[in-house]
Amino acid sequence: MKLKICLCPGDGIGVEVTREAVRVLEHVVRKFGHDLETSEALLGGIAIHETGTPFPEDTRVKATAADATLMGAVGLPEFDNWPPEKRPERGLLGIRNALGVYANLRPVRSYKALLDKSPLKNDRIDGTDMVIVRELLGGLYYGTPRGITGSGPEQRGTNTMTYTRAEIERVTRMSFELARGRRKKVTSVDKSNVLEVSQLWRMVVTDVATGYPDIELDHLLVDNCAMQLVLNPKRFDVVLMENTFGDILSDEGAVLAGSIGMLPSASIGDKLPSGAWVGLYEPVHGSAPDIAGQNKANPLGAIGSVAAMLEYSFGLKDEAAAVNRAMEDVLNSGRVSADLGGTASTSDVGTSVLEAI
Ligand code: NAD
Ligand code: IPM
Ligand code: MN
Repeated sequence: MKLKICLCPGDGIGVEVTREAVRVLEHVVRKFGHDLETSEALLGGIAIHETGTPFPEDTRVKATAADATLMGAVGLPEFDNWPPEKRPERGLLGIRNALGVYANLRPVRSYKALLDKSPLKNDRIDGTDMVIVRELLGGLYYGTPRGITGSGPEQRGTNTMTYTRAEIERVTRMSFELARGRRKKVTSVDKSNVLEVSQLWRMVVTDVATGYPDIELDHLLVDNCAMQLVLNPKRFDVVLMENTFGDILSDEGAVLAGSIGMLPSASIGDKLPSGAWVGLYEPVHGSAPDIAGQNKANPLGAIGSVAAMLEYSFGLKDEAAAVNRAMEDVLNSGRVSADLGGTASTSDVGTSVLEAI
């Protein structure tokens, strides 16, 4: 198979972890007899420095021409006080929107070798295996009106959490389809005791569920969900929620997995005529300015995102399994990075995964 991939390493540790993810991708492609063609594109802070904008047209062209895009992370401290529309993070919102990837799948699982790395008790987290499905193109991130208006005591900041029925339906269907290949349970998370947008969310999810009688559905309020995630994570299979709730709760999931550096993600849109899904693959973590440039970031979230890409965008299940198995072997061997209590560098971990494959 020919794999046409656009690479957007972005900023900070995004560059370091993407380098290892690409080494792993090249290795798998070679080993399984596929053909890889990559393009590299600017996104985030580096794109602002080189072109003046966080999501240049050249990046849009390259990403939309590729079968799938692999992203590292965006964000640089020097832009911290810039307005949202000019910041590196806006580049990520731009590429997600341009690709139409509305469902962000964030698998959270506990690894045996990492049980002691979590501050939570082992028996609480052992056996945790869930996928957070975060709606990615709506809600507060894109809603209007937005902005800061006025001055003095009347100066006002506004964002709008808004969803249409169609936006809720498509991500809900994706969640139920995903549950069919898993433990057949969907938990929908909302704030319907306060927010109208959440009342519509719950209504639409309940409507869609009638088409999936084989899947169990329950609803949780988001505040309770934040608590249940650490009290009883094993109760969750597919956990569906809107954009901002998903951003926040998936970082909480990192505590179950042992480190934010462990979490991969797959952002999926509609199916292409070829039958493949449009996909953007990115670790959940950010550019980590506190450790950037030190070759100590954990690349496994990025490497896991390569496995997700092989599976979802190309249907290459054996290849994806080979990467996932190698990651597990490396965790068991103890050759892990500092966030997991080890001494291995970013590139050491990448090399160990290559060797294990
Ligand atoms: P962050 O995820 O970058 O870092 C949070 C903490 O986790 C830091 O202590 C960091 O060192 C650690 N960490 C993160 N990834 C790690 C890894 N792979 N290995 C080891 N340790 C890791 O979040 P932040 O500090 O809140 O944000 C920093 C910048 O990244 C901001 O500009 C933010 O907007 C951006 N950001 C980008 C993305 C993305 O591109 N998807 C995601 C989150 C944050
Ligand atoms: C994430 C990040 C992004 C988000 C930022 C950098 C725009 O936090 O992917 O979780 O909020 O979606
Ligand atoms: Mn986030």
